[in-house]
Amino acid sequence: MMFYNEDCIEGAKKYLKDNSVDLIISDPPYGINGDKLDKHYNRDENNVIEGYVEVSKEEYPEFSFKWIKEAERVLKPGGSIYIISGYSNLRHILNALAETNLEERNHIIWKYNFGVYTSKKFISSHYHILYFIKHGENITFNTNAFYADCEKNENGGSLNYLDREDVWIINREYKPGQIKNKNELPKSLLTKMILYSSNPNDTVCDFFLGSFSTAKVAIGLGRYACGFEINKNAFDYQLKEIEKIASGEFLVGQRPVPQNKLFNKGKFLSEKEKYQITSEFKQLIQKGDSKKNAINIISGKYGRGYWSILNIVDQNDYSFSKIEQTLFD
Ligand SMILES: C[S@@+](CC[C@H](N)C(=O)[O-])C[C@H]1O[C@@H](n2cnc3c(N)ncnc32)[C@H](O)[C@@H]1O
Repeated sequence: MMFYNEDCIEGAKKYLKDNSVDLIISDPPYGINGDKLDKHYNRDENNVIEGYVEVSKEEYPEFSFKWIKEAERVLKPGGSIYIISGYSNLRHILNALAETNLEERNHIIWKYNFGVYTSKKFISSHYHILYFIKHGENITFNTNAFYADCEKNENGGSLNYLDREDVWIINREYKPGQIKNKNELPKSLLTKMILYSSNPNDTVCDFFLGSFSTAKVAIGLGRYACGFEINKNAFDYQLKEIEKIASGEFLVGQRPVPQNKLFNKGKFLSEKEKYQITSEFKQLIQKGDSKKNAINIISGKYGRGYWSILNIVDQNDYSFSKIEQTLFD
Protein backbone atom coordinates (compact mmCIF):
# COMPACT_ATOMS: atom_id res chain seq x y z
CA MET A 1 0.00 0.00 0.00
CA MET A 2 1.33 3.43 -0.79
CA PHE A 3 0.39 6.27 1.52
CA TYR A 4 2.15 9.62 1.54
CA ASN A 5 2.21 12.39 4.13
CA GLU A 6 2.34 15.08 1.44
CA ASP A 7 0.34 17.60 -0.49
CA CYS A 8 -1.74 15.52 -2.91
CA ILE A 9 -0.92 17.63 -5.98
CA GLU A 10 2.86 17.41 -5.58
CA GLY A 11 2.61 13.84 -4.26
CA ALA A 12 0.56 12.62 -7.23
CA LYS A 13 3.09 14.15 -9.62
CA LYS A 14 5.95 12.40 -7.83
CA TYR A 15 4.48 8.99 -7.10
CA LEU A 16 1.51 8.17 -9.33
CA LYS A 17 1.95 7.12 -12.94
CA ASP A 18 -0.44 8.10 -15.74
CA ASN A 19 -3.43 5.73 -16.10
CA SER A 20 -2.55 3.71 -12.97
CA VAL A 21 -5.62 3.96 -10.70
CA ASP A 22 -8.98 2.19 -11.15
CA LEU A 23 -11.07 4.29 -8.79
CA ILE A 24 -10.67 7.62 -6.96
CA ILE A 25 -12.85 8.58 -4.04
CA SER A 26 -12.03 11.99 -2.57
CA ASP A 27 -13.56 14.29 -0.04
CA PRO A 28 -11.53 17.53 -0.31
CA PRO A 29 -11.39 20.15 2.45
CA TYR A 30 -14.52 22.31 2.51
CA GLY A 31 -12.91 25.72 2.01
CA ILE A 32 -15.23 27.13 4.69
CA ASN A 33 -12.89 27.14 7.66
CA GLY A 34 -13.62 23.44 8.27
CA ASP A 35 -10.76 23.47 10.76
CA LYS A 36 -12.82 25.82 12.98
CA LEU A 37 -16.33 24.45 12.43
CA ASP A 38 -16.56 23.04 15.94
CA LYS A 39 -16.55 26.60 17.31
CA HIS A 40 -19.66 27.40 15.22
CA TYR A 41 -21.56 24.24 15.95
CA ASN A 42 -20.58 23.68 19.52
CA ARG A 43 -19.24 20.24 18.81
CA ASP A 44 -17.20 18.27 21.30
CA GLU A 45 -13.97 17.91 19.37
CA ASN A 46 -11.92 16.31 22.13
CA ASN A 47 -11.37 13.12 20.17
CA VAL A 48 -10.75 14.81 16.85
CA ILE A 49 -7.16 14.63 15.61
CA GLU A 50 -5.49 18.05 15.55
CA GLY A 51 -4.00 19.60 12.45
CA TYR A 52 -6.77 19.38 9.82
CA VAL A 53 -5.52 21.44 6.88
CA GLU A 54 -8.06 23.79 5.30
CA VAL A 55 -7.90 25.57 1.95
CA SER A 56 -8.86 29.24 1.85
CA LYS A 57 -11.89 30.51 -0.04
CA GLU A 58 -9.61 32.50 -2.35
CA GLU A 59 -7.41 29.51 -3.20
CA TYR A 60 -10.27 27.06 -3.64
CA PRO A 61 -10.89 27.43 -7.43
CA GLU A 62 -7.22 26.96 -8.38
CA PHE A 63 -6.65 24.27 -5.79
CA SER A 64 -9.66 22.31 -7.15
CA PHE A 65 -8.47 22.69 -10.71
CA LYS A 66 -4.96 21.43 -9.88
CA TRP A 67 -5.87 18.33 -7.89
CA ILE A 68 -8.68 17.30 -10.24
CA LYS A 69 -6.32 17.61 -13.21
CA GLU A 70 -3.90 15.23 -11.43
CA ALA A 71 -6.77 12.88 -10.62
CA GLU A 72 -7.73 12.76 -14.31
CA ARG A 73 -4.13 12.00 -15.29
CA VAL A 74 -3.68 9.06 -12.92
CA LEU A 75 -7.08 7.48 -13.57
CA LYS A 76 -7.08 4.53 -15.99
CA PRO A 77 -9.26 4.87 -19.10
CA GLY A 78 -12.67 3.60 -18.00
CA GLY A 79 -11.80 4.39 -14.35
CA SER A 80 -14.25 6.20 -12.05
CA ILE A 81 -13.97 9.17 -9.73
CA TYR A 82 -16.36 10.17 -6.94
CA ILE A 83 -15.91 13.64 -5.40
CA ILE A 84 -17.83 14.51 -2.24
CA SER A 85 -18.68 18.20 -1.85
CA GLY A 86 -20.80 20.47 0.28
CA TYR A 87 -22.80 23.20 -1.47
CA SER A 88 -20.54 26.18 -0.62
CA ASN A 89 -17.74 25.31 -3.04
CA LEU A 90 -19.60 22.96 -5.34
CA ARG A 91 -19.39 25.38 -8.24
CA HIS A 92 -15.60 25.39 -8.09
CA ILE A 93 -15.46 21.61 -8.21
CA LEU A 94 -17.91 21.55 -11.12
CA ASN A 95 -15.92 24.25 -12.95
CA ALA A 96 -12.71 22.28 -12.43
CA LEU A 97 -14.36 19.09 -13.71
CA ALA A 98 -15.58 20.98 -16.76
CA GLU A 99 -11.96 21.86 -17.58
CA THR A 100 -11.11 18.14 -17.89
CA ASN A 101 -12.18 15.44 -20.33
CA LEU A 102 -13.85 13.48 -17.53
CA GLU A 103 -17.44 12.51 -18.34
CA GLU A 104 -20.31 12.98 -15.95
CA ARG A 105 -22.26 9.85 -14.99
CA ASN A 106 -24.34 11.06 -12.04
CA HIS A 107 -24.77 13.96 -9.68
CA ILE A 108 -25.68 12.00 -6.56
CA ILE A 109 -27.32 13.52 -3.49
CA TRP A 110 -26.21 11.90 -0.25
CA LYS A 111 -28.78 12.61 2.44
CA TYR A 112 -27.61 12.00 5.99
CA ASN A 113 -29.18 12.25 9.41
CA PHE A 114 -28.79 15.23 11.77
CA GLY A 115 -27.88 18.16 9.57
CA VAL A 116 -26.35 21.28 11.03
CA TYR A 117 -29.13 22.95 13.08
CA THR A 118 -30.24 26.37 11.80
CA SER A 119 -33.35 28.28 12.91
CA LYS A 120 -33.50 30.98 10.24
CA LYS A 121 -33.07 28.82 7.18
CA PHE A 122 -33.62 25.19 6.22
CA ILE A 123 -31.36 22.65 7.87
CA SER A 124 -28.75 21.37 5.47
CA SER A 125 -28.58 17.58 5.57
CA HIS A 126 -27.08 16.51 2.27
CA TYR A 127 -23.83 16.39 0.35
CA HIS A 128 -23.21 16.27 -3.38
CA ILE A 129 -21.32 13.33 -4.84
CA LEU A 130 -20.04 13.91 -8.36
CA TYR A 131 -19.54 10.62 -10.14
CA PHE A 132 -17.46 10.96 -13.32
CA ILE A 133 -15.48 8.54 -15.49
CA LYS A 134 -12.43 8.79 -17.71
CA HIS A 135 -13.36 7.80 -21.25
CA GLY A 136 -12.42 4.19 -21.97
CA GLU A 137 -13.79 0.81 -22.94
CA ASN A 138 -13.89 -1.05 -19.66
CA ILE A 139 -16.05 0.91 -17.26
CA THR A 140 -16.73 -0.99 -14.05
CA PHE A 141 -20.29 -0.61 -12.86
CA ASN A 142 -21.37 -3.72 -10.97
CA THR A 143 -25.14 -3.43 -11.26
CA ASN A 144 -25.66 -6.40 -8.96
CA ALA A 145 -23.24 -5.23 -6.29
CA PHE A 146 -25.95 -5.46 -3.64
CA TYR A 147 -29.11 -6.96 -5.16
CA ALA A 148 -29.95 -9.41 -7.94
CA ASP A 149 -32.39 -8.10 -10.58
CA CYS A 150 -35.21 -10.25 -9.19
CA GLU A 151 -34.98 -9.19 -5.51
CA LYS A 152 -38.06 -7.33 -4.21
CA ASN A 153 -38.95 -5.42 -1.05
CA GLU A 154 -42.15 -6.09 0.94
CA ASN A 155 -44.12 -3.79 -1.42
CA GLY A 156 -42.97 -5.66 -4.50
CA GLY A 157 -40.52 -2.87 -5.50
CA SER A 158 -37.23 -3.82 -7.12
CA LEU A 159 -34.42 -3.57 -4.55
CA ASN A 160 -31.90 -3.37 -7.36
CA TYR A 161 -33.67 -0.35 -8.90
CA LEU A 162 -33.98 1.41 -5.54
CA ASP A 163 -30.31 0.84 -4.77
CA ARG A 164 -29.37 2.44 -8.09
CA GLU A 165 -31.34 5.66 -7.61
CA ASP A 166 -29.16 8.76 -7.37
CA VAL A 167 -30.41 9.89 -3.95
CA TRP A 168 -28.66 7.92 -1.25
CA ILE A 169 -29.96 7.96 2.31
CA ILE A 170 -27.05 6.84 4.43
CA ASN A 171 -26.57 7.80 8.06
CA ARG A 172 -23.37 9.18 9.42
CA GLU A 173 -21.60 7.05 12.00
CA TYR A 174 -21.17 8.23 15.56
CA LYS A 175 -18.11 7.02 17.33
CA PRO A 176 -18.32 8.36 20.85
CA GLY A 177 -15.00 8.31 22.64
CA GLN A 178 -13.05 7.18 19.58
CA ILE A 179 -10.25 9.09 17.89
CA LYS A 180 -11.47 10.39 14.55
CA ASN A 181 -10.98 12.89 11.76
CA LYS A 182 -13.38 15.73 11.10
CA ASN A 183 -16.17 14.68 8.79
CA GLU A 184 -15.27 11.00 8.56
CA LEU A 185 -17.21 9.28 5.77
CA PRO A 186 -19.42 6.34 6.77
CA LYS A 187 -18.29 2.83 5.87
CA SER A 188 -21.57 2.00 4.11
CA LEU A 189 -21.23 5.01 1.79
CA LEU A 190 -17.69 4.01 0.86
CA THR A 191 -18.66 0.36 0.47
CA LYS A 192 -21.34 1.36 -2.04
CA MET A 193 -18.97 3.37 -4.25
CA ILE A 194 -16.22 0.76 -4.05
CA LEU A 195 -18.41 -2.27 -4.80
CA TYR A 196 -20.18 -0.61 -7.73
CA SER A 197 -17.09 0.91 -9.32
CA SER A 198 -14.19 -1.48 -8.71
CA ASN A 199 -13.32 -5.17 -8.60
CA PRO A 200 -11.13 -7.15 -6.19
CA ASN A 201 -7.43 -6.34 -6.63
CA ASP A 202 -8.18 -2.95 -8.26
CA THR A 203 -6.38 0.14 -6.95
CA VAL A 204 -8.46 2.73 -5.08
CA CYS A 205 -6.92 6.15 -4.43
CA ASP A 206 -7.97 8.96 -2.07
CA PHE A 207 -6.29 12.35 -2.50
CA PHE A 208 -7.47 13.47 1.00
CA LEU A 209 -7.19 10.46 3.26
CA GLY A 210 -8.18 12.15 6.55
CA SER A 211 -8.94 9.14 8.74
CA PHE A 212 -7.96 6.81 5.86
CA SER A 213 -11.63 5.76 5.72
CA THR A 214 -11.61 5.13 1.94
CA ALA A 215 -8.36 3.18 2.18
CA LYS A 216 -9.56 1.09 5.14
CA VAL A 217 -12.79 0.08 3.40
CA ALA A 218 -10.96 -0.57 0.11
CA ILE A 219 -8.49 -2.92 1.79
CA GLY A 220 -11.27 -4.60 3.75
CA LEU A 221 -13.01 -5.25 0.42
CA GLY A 222 -9.89 -6.84 -1.10
CA ARG A 223 -8.74 -3.85 -3.16
CA TYR A 224 -5.35 -2.11 -3.06
CA ALA A 225 -5.33 1.40 -1.62
CA CYS A 226 -3.16 4.50 -1.95
CA GLY A 227 -3.40 8.20 -1.24
CA PHE A 228 -2.25 11.40 0.47
CA GLU A 229 -2.82 13.23 3.73
CA ILE A 230 -0.96 16.41 4.53
CA ASN A 231 -1.73 16.46 8.27
CA LYS A 232 1.13 14.59 9.99
CA ASN A 233 -0.87 13.88 13.17
CA ALA A 234 -3.66 12.18 11.25
CA PHE A 235 -1.22 10.43 8.93
CA ASP A 236 0.96 8.91 11.66
CA TYR A 237 -2.01 7.78 13.75
CA GLN A 238 -3.99 6.26 10.87
CA LEU A 239 -1.01 4.54 9.30
CA LYS A 240 -0.88 2.31 12.38
CA GLU A 241 -4.67 1.83 12.46
CA ILE A 242 -4.87 0.65 8.87
CA GLU A 243 -2.48 -2.21 9.58
CA LYS A 244 -5.20 -3.76 11.74
CA ILE A 245 -7.40 -4.38 8.68
CA ALA A 246 -6.89 -7.66 6.86
CA SER A 247 -7.27 -7.61 3.11
CA GLY A 248 -10.77 -8.77 2.18
CA GLU A 249 -12.12 -9.00 5.73
CA PHE A 250 -15.25 -6.91 4.95
CA LEU A 251 -16.25 -9.20 2.12
CA VAL A 252 -17.86 -11.50 4.68
CA GLY A 253 -21.61 -11.42 4.15
CA GLN A 254 -21.31 -9.80 0.73
CA ARG A 255 -22.90 -11.65 -2.18
CA PRO A 256 -21.06 -14.81 -3.31
CA VAL A 257 -18.72 -14.01 -6.17
CA PRO A 258 -20.72 -14.30 -9.44
CA GLN A 259 -19.24 -16.65 -12.07
CA ASN A 260 -18.54 -13.76 -14.46
CA LYS A 261 -16.35 -12.06 -11.82
CA LEU A 262 -14.01 -15.07 -11.59
CA PHE A 263 -11.48 -13.24 -13.70
CA ASN A 264 -8.63 -15.63 -12.91
CA LYS A 265 -10.58 -18.85 -13.44
CA GLY A 266 -8.32 -21.59 -14.80
CA LYS A 267 -5.26 -19.33 -14.86
CA PHE A 268 -1.87 -20.74 -13.83
CA LEU A 269 -0.84 -19.70 -10.32
CA SER A 270 2.79 -19.49 -9.26
CA GLU A 271 4.02 -20.97 -5.99
CA LYS A 272 4.38 -17.41 -4.68
CA GLU A 273 0.71 -16.65 -5.40
CA LYS A 274 -0.36 -19.90 -3.77
CA TYR A 275 1.70 -19.05 -0.72
CA GLN A 276 0.12 -15.58 -0.60
CA ILE A 277 -3.38 -17.09 -0.78
CA THR A 278 -2.60 -19.56 1.98
CA SER A 279 -1.12 -16.86 4.21
CA GLU A 280 -4.15 -14.60 3.77
CA PHE A 281 -6.44 -17.54 4.48
CA LYS A 282 -4.50 -18.27 7.67
CA GLN A 283 -4.73 -14.62 8.72
CA LEU A 284 -8.52 -14.58 8.29
CA ILE A 285 -8.94 -17.78 10.28
CA GLN A 286 -6.74 -16.41 13.06
CA LYS A 287 -8.97 -13.31 13.17
CA GLY A 288 -11.98 -15.57 13.76
CA ASP A 289 -13.51 -16.11 10.30
CA SER A 290 -15.07 -19.46 9.46
CA LYS A 291 -13.33 -21.55 6.85
CA LYS A 292 -16.23 -21.00 4.41
CA ASN A 293 -16.19 -17.22 4.80
CA ALA A 294 -12.42 -17.03 4.50
CA ILE A 295 -12.53 -19.02 1.26
CA ASN A 296 -15.34 -16.82 -0.12
CA ILE A 297 -13.37 -13.67 0.68
CA ILE A 298 -10.25 -14.97 -1.02
CA SER A 299 -12.29 -16.26 -3.95
CA GLY A 300 -13.61 -12.70 -4.53
CA LYS A 301 -10.22 -11.12 -4.13
CA TYR A 302 -8.34 -13.47 -6.45
CA GLY A 303 -11.17 -14.04 -8.93
CA ARG A 304 -11.09 -17.83 -8.58
CA GLY A 305 -13.82 -20.27 -7.63
CA TYR A 306 -14.46 -21.66 -4.13
CA TRP A 307 -13.11 -25.15 -4.88
CA SER A 308 -9.98 -23.79 -6.48
CA ILE A 309 -9.13 -21.81 -3.33
CA LEU A 310 -10.00 -24.75 -1.08
CA ASN A 311 -7.66 -26.91 -3.11
CA ILE A 312 -4.83 -24.41 -2.80
CA VAL A 313 -5.12 -23.94 0.96
CA ASP A 314 -5.43 -27.68 1.53
CA GLN A 315 -2.50 -28.57 -0.71
CA ASN A 316 -0.25 -25.83 0.55
CA ASP A 317 -0.68 -26.83 4.11
CA TYR A 318 2.01 -24.62 5.64
CA SER A 319 1.55 -26.13 9.09
CA PHE A 320 -2.09 -25.31 8.67
CA SER A 321 -3.60 -28.56 9.87
CA LYS A 322 -2.85 -27.71 13.51
CA ILE A 323 -4.83 -24.46 13.36
CA GLU A 324 -7.58 -26.26 11.49
CA GLN A 325 -7.83 -28.99 14.06
CA THR A 326 -8.33 -26.54 16.90
CA LEU A 327 -10.83 -24.38 15.07
CA PHE A 328 -12.95 -26.87 13.15
CA ASP A 329 -13.05 -30.01 15.33
C1 LIG B 1 -12.78 16.44 4.45
S1 LIG B 1 -11.30 15.77 5.05
C2 LIG B 1 -11.27 14.11 4.46
C3 LIG B 1 -12.04 13.21 5.36
C4 LIG B 1 -11.91 11.76 4.96
N1 LIG B 1 -12.66 11.49 3.76
C5 LIG B 1 -12.38 10.87 6.10
O1 LIG B 1 -13.35 10.10 5.91
O2 LIG B 1 -11.79 10.94 7.17
C6 LIG B 1 -10.03 16.53 4.07
C7 LIG B 1 -8.63 16.14 4.47
O3 LIG B 1 -7.72 16.65 3.50
C8 LIG B 1 -6.51 17.04 4.16
N2 LIG B 1 -5.81 17.96 3.25
C9 LIG B 1 -5.98 19.30 3.10
N3 LIG B 1 -5.21 19.78 2.11
C10 LIG B 1 -4.52 18.72 1.59
C11 LIG B 1 -3.58 18.57 0.53
N4 LIG B 1 -3.18 19.61 -0.20
N5 LIG B 1 -3.10 17.33 0.28
C12 LIG B 1 -3.47 16.27 1.02
N6 LIG B 1 -4.36 16.35 2.05
C13 LIG B 1 -4.90 17.56 2.33
C14 LIG B 1 -7.00 17.63 5.46
O4 LIG B 1 -5.98 17.66 6.45
C15 LIG B 1 -8.17 16.69 5.80
O5 LIG B 1 -7.73 15.61 6.62
